Amino acid sequence: MVKVLLIHGPNLNMLGTREPEVYGRLTLDEVNARMMRLAEENGAELRVFQSNSEGALIDAIQEARLWADGIVINPGAYTHYSHAIRDALAAVHLPAIEVHLSNIYSREEFRNHSVISPVVVGCIAGLGIRSYTCGLLSLIGILQEHSSSQ
Ligand code: DQA
Repeated sequence: MVKVLLIHGPNLNMLGTREPEVYGRLTLDEVNARMMRLAEENGAELRVFQSNSEGALIDAIQEARLWADGIVINPGAYTHYSHAIRDALAAVHLPAIEVHLSNIYSREEFRNHSVISPVVVGCIAGLGIRSYTCGLLSLIGILQEHSSSQ
């Protein structure tokens, strides 16, 4: 069974009430419940983690190398400037997919650039909860293909 860590960065604990016109009305618990179900239906084990602090996110990425096969991450605003999170993802050598609820390319200029994208397999943005669904299903598919070709 492939094992995936889903990471949510800062302010995503406020989903549901935070700018719902941008980020939707689902709470983080609802997003996580949907992702847990999706993982189970597709033969994967999923653990979820959210933090508002950069160090805790980096610790979670580093610890993932001890048990996970891949990472789905929404780094929140750290997307746009955290070289430390980027370096952590590069260091652990786990396939990762970056997801965003909103279309970061159609918003304020500071959101148009991701320092994370160069070290991930792919990036999905702008599809709301579907960004997570596509990200998780794609990663599970990639990991399963990889393990069956070994
Ligand atoms: C976000 C986009 C970021 O620019 C923002 O800071 C977030 C959420 C998204 O999911 O659309 O916190 O990553």
